Amino acid sequence: MCPPEYFTVEYAINPWMDTATPVDPELAVKQWHQLRETLLDLGHTVHEITPEPGLPDMVYAANGAFVVDGTSYGARFRHRQRAAEATAHRAFYDAYGWRFVAPAETNEGEGDFTYLPDAYGGLILAGYGFRTSSTAHAEAQEVLGRPVVSLRLVDPRFYHLDTALAPLDDQNVAYFPGAFSVASQRVLAQLFPDAILADETDAFAFGLNLVSDGRHVILNSEATGMAAKVAAAGYTPVQVELSELKKGGGSVKCCVAELRP
Ligand code: ARG
Repeated sequence: MCPPEYFTVEYAINPWMDTATPVDPELAVKQWHQLRETLLDLGHTVHEITPEPGLPDMVYAANGAFVVDGTSYGARFRHRQRAAEATAHRAFYDAYGWRFVAPAETNEGEGDFTYLPDAYGGLILAGYGFRTSSTAHAEAQEVLGRPVVSLRLVDPRFYHLDTALAPLDDQNVAYFPGAFSVASQRVLAQLFPDAILADETDAFAFGLNLVSDGRHVILNSEATGMAAKVAAAGYTPVQVELSELKKGGGSVKCCVAELRP
């Protein structure tokens, strides 16, 4: 995770960002700390990457890389405003001794990639259409040695895969079908017949931008409908307020990069 010390909305690179809407920086920091505390209380280890001035979106740590089986596939950002974040993430992985592979293709890390270790022997799902290039999907497959399923995102509000689909545990997902092309919806229905289907209201409340440890599902407190759906499926929803970070177009999942040894 990356503390939101320099978080602001000073440019707009997704439909959620409005430079005219003020951000409350103190509230942003407070909410971020509550998310961190929530993860710690659930028994998880949280490492921090040092925020850098001039990189207001660095708080969305999920975008910096995608790690599977101890290999970190680095990010290469679509927008120049975020480009320097990739270097900071690389330094983090190098310092901690992870195997790091620099990308040639444009990709925004866990924003557009996710991994299900127990689905089909270990499956990567990857989004494209707005940020990550589809050519990065093939690159990720070569780097990580796991099959990558490409899914096309079609709704600009759900510009990263992690705004439209979330792993609930090691083999099942929740997703909003309307965020995907009709063909990609068919692919998802074939792969995940037991998925929890979210609706537009759930997705719009960032209800899919969640972090699950397989039992507890941490999600935005505005996503009440999604909380009820995961509870009905046997998971325990844990709600956190992240109103300020929503102004940058992100929520729980965007703030957390998962380290998979
Ligand atoms: N303002 C950031 C951007 O548009 C938000 C990133 C959200 N991160 C995510 N993993 N979806 O790039």
